[in-house]
Amino acid sequence: MAFPESFLDDLAARSDIYDIVSRYVTLKKSGSNWFGLCPFHSEKTGSFSVNTEKQIYHCFGCGAGGSVYNFIMQIENLSFPEAVEFLANLAGVPLPQEDTRERDNRKRLLECSRDAARFFFQVLHSPEGKIGYDYLIRRGLRPGTIRHFGLGFAPDSWDKLMNHLAAKGYTKSEMRELGLIKANQKGGFYDQFRNRIMFPIIDVRGNVIAFGGRVMDDSKPKYLNSPEHQLFSKSRNLFALNYAKKTTGRRLILAEGYMDVIALHQAGFTEAVASLGTALTPDQAKLIKRFADEVVISYDADEAGQKATSRAMEILKPEDLKVRILRIPGAKDPDEFIREHGREAFSALLERSEDHMEFVLDRIRAKCDLETDEGRVNFLKEAAKTLARLSSPIEREIYASRAAASGSVSKDALLSEIERNRRAYQRRAKNEETRKLLSPEKNAQPASRALRYTDVKTARAEEGIIALLYREPEFAGALAAAGLSDGDFTSPFLQKICRFFLDQYRAGNSVTSAALSQCLEPGEMSELGRILSAPDQGDSASAGRDYIRILKESRAKHQPADGADPLLAMRDLHKEKKSYGGTK
Ligand code: UTP
Ligand code: MN
Repeated sequence: MAFPESFLDDLAARSDIYDIVSRYVTLKKSGSNWFGLCPFHSEKTGSFSVNTEKQIYHCFGCGAGGSVYNFIMQIENLSFPEAVEFLANLAGVPLPQEDTRERDNRKRLLECSRDAARFFFQVLHSPEGKIGYDYLIRRGLRPGTIRHFGLGFAPDSWDKLMNHLAAKGYTKSEMRELGLIKANQKGGFYDQFRNRIMFPIIDVRGNVIAFGGRVMDDSKPKYLNSPEHQLFSKSRNLFALNYAKKTTGRRLILAEGYMDVIALHQAGFTEAVASLGTALTPDQAKLIKRFADEVVISYDADEAGQKATSRAMEILKPEDLKVRILRIPGAKDPDEFIREHGREAFSALLERSEDHMEFVLDRIRAKCDLETDEGRVNFLKEAAKTLARLSSPIEREIYASRAAASGSVSKDALLSEIERNRRAYQRRAKNEETRKLLSPEKNAQPASRALRYTDVKTARAEEGIIALLYREPEFAGALAAAGLSDGDFTSPFLQKICRFFLDQYRAGNSVTSAALSQCLEPGEMSELGRILSAPDQGDSASAGRDYIRILKESRAKHQPADGADPLLAMRDLHKEKKSYGGTK
């Protein structure tokens, strides 16, 4: 979706970054900036800064940064157009005409999706869907639960849904966009979901955005899921979060399957959610953090489930959530366990669920044969390596006791091995620190690998040029006078920004970070935030001259002899002679 730049600028002007950020973060003035605790990573010192003059934010700790739009995208977990809509609502500004059309389109798609859900629901409760209804009852669901989750049934037909939606006025292209119908080779269409139990996927705002459809036997694929479309992103939603977010405990239970979640809710654990047919994603971890401080991972008991648990723990780690792991003895998943043992038993498991460290130790223990000396030595070594990472001595002591007891190794041996590992760690960390200090170039790289600089020195000058252009657009004139343009940049990403700046300058527009949010990827935007937050060079004229010189040198290096500027090339040849050739 494209918003007119004038609209974005106007909206940004009404959405002062200080006011918007203050809704989420307590800011204190320091110098010309405001500082606070970064809402995007956990910290005790405020590395999060807001610059009201430039209307940008930047965190020196985690690298997050950008315009007010990026801030809303990041903190509310929204796409760019959604963030614009969000801010427009706050500011009471109507969205532009063109956008109303987009919104109508969006509204129609949501209605179409909801109508499809109603259709599936009605079929489930009709004779045609009895087979599905019976299946769900057989699986232990109560009628009220089926209604609560809006479960439905897709009839065994090629066109019933399509005809139903067409009669309601929806177009084929709308149904297709939602993944409800597919094109056949003859140019016709057919229903995608047939003879399946339908699980509507509902976003936090209560919109039906997608479906999972399950077969009732062992045929494959077991679930068909809606494809991603403009209203549905698998990685940014969680099944049943629309209900789970209403629980008050700031705790979520993360299960693997739709059926697990439904069984959990039915048993009273209404804080259960699941990802949508993919492994847990960082976006989902952020979403979880919005609603919870603690997650209990309750995946299937099989090896695949345990592997997924390890992965999910890694994904959740950056969010600073308390993570516990619930393991299900003698059953394959929460659904089966609750059906066999009831809610009290599950409640007991939940209370007993282990923290992260115990899970990790257990995985190590399972790999080692504790019957043999060799196995015990391995266990001791691996466990020590893991426990050495705990920063609290009390925790190290407690876990060491437990690990020693369960691994049949001596606690003293384990503790001394932990100490040895810690010393090695500290040494390595110190070396790393020194290395970083000695080679500042390493620090000057963008966080994202895709944006890495090949020529750091020149890229630094390019960064400087961009910061300068932002503060003093007239610098574009000096650049042109020096015969330089964005084409001389070595970093493609900085080049793109420079081109944008120069175009805006030529068109007589001033550059706003709002306009930039639209043409840059979020990762690029946050790099730009870093660049624009760098302290001003006191003497901008002399800094500008330095940048120009460095860029010219780099250009000469990259296009020798027959470079665009013959004069420059000659001068460079000359210099080369002086420094390398000639007199020994
Ligand atoms: P499960 O196979 O554990 O399914 O897959 P389930 O939901 O527990 O269903 P039952 O209990 O066997 O009836 C876990 C999740 O993985 C995704 C679905 O989101 C499912 O809920 N999945 C699984 C798919 O997307 N496609 C598949 O073919 C299988
Ligand atoms: Mn299952």
